[in-house]
Amino acid sequence: MQSCEPEAKFRFTIAPPTGTIASLFAPLLSLFMSTLSTQILSRLSLADDFLSGEELCAAFGVTRSAIWKHIRLLRREGYQIDAVTGRGYRLAALTGRAVAAEVEPFLATRCFGRNLSYHEVTDSTNIQAKMLALKGSAEGSVVVADSQTGGRGRMGRRWLSVSGKNLYFTIILRPGVPSLRVPQLTLLVAVAIHRALAQFVPELQPKIKWPNDILVNEKKICGVLCEMQSEPDFTHFVVVGLGINVNQLAFPGELEGRATSLFLESGRTHSKPELLAGFLNQFEPLYDRWLGEEDLGFVLPYIEEHSLLQSRVVYVEQFNRTINGTVTGIAKGGELMLASEEGGTVLISSGEAHLSKSN
Ligand code: BTN
Repeated sequence: MQSCEPEAKFRFTIAPPTGTIASLFAPLLSLFMSTLSTQILSRLSLADDFLSGEELCAAFGVTRSAIWKHIRLLRREGYQIDAVTGRGYRLAALTGRAVAAEVEPFLATRCFGRNLSYHEVTDSTNIQAKMLALKGSAEGSVVVADSQTGGRGRMGRRWLSVSGKNLYFTIILRPGVPSLRVPQLTLLVAVAIHRALAQFVPELQPKIKWPNDILVNEKKICGVLCEMQSEPDFTHFVVVGLGINVNQLAFPGELEGRATSLFLESGRTHSKPELLAGFLNQFEPLYDRWLGEEDLGFVLPYIEEHSLLQSRVVYVEQFNRTINGTVTGIAKGGELMLASEEGGTVLISSGEAHLSKSN
């Protein structure tokens, strides 16, 4: 398993499942939630009024007692479902968790997000997604966690993953392209999340920071970690993990002043299921188009328009060196184009870019 960054070393280790009670029950819970309960919840969430027991029985071809059993399971899961004799069932409130039944009503995709597994807590959604991909899970499958005990960032860093506030998820892709093209995916993901955020919170002015961060007011609101398993001519699968700071109220220690959330920037809380679906709705058509193209040419104008780094003086940290220069654009292959201090243009395919103090 490799990072999608060309020069990065392989860092994928499979951690043992974390040992809390919640994590032991999580697979069972998501199994229940992915079957009839999920379908019932989805149906209830789309209905304007009560749905009768008969309607639900007919819709799913099951008995009244089966429906009742799943209503009880959903209530145990925290869903407020009213049951009134003679009228049926009505969903009084959703939980706001990014489970399949709460994401599905907002999805406009053909396949992305249609198979979604949810963990209250897990080690890392990238690790879970990789295990699913190895077992043959379909393209577009998504793993979501409410919190992660081993959330991973780029360059071997940790990704703080508190519970109840943010979105942590990973999507499995199976692009049958040469592995050289895969790093382009990170910029494509950045475009999709940028568009979703712009649509979801129109007053924000998010910026894309090459290669795959999203910042608001120069503070990080979203990070992307792509990892792949491939041969030179063929990519077996890619797992694309996103951490989006949605409703977090404060950031501790060294993150203070460097990270932000949608809540902090907009002053209101936001729906995680809707944002996840919004991202997937943006990403699927971009990805489909990218598969049929040679490169990122078709999104370059969008990236350059919303780039934090365009025409700015930066330094790029790589594993063994730092490069200084002024950003002149993004190449079709996704590389950062830099007018270097030594003269001439250099194409940079990996690393972490920072604005220089001289800006
Ligand atoms: C970065 O900016 O360093 C990338 C952060 C990516 C974090 C997400 S959270 C969901 C997924 N699972 C992980 O362990 N990491 C990614």
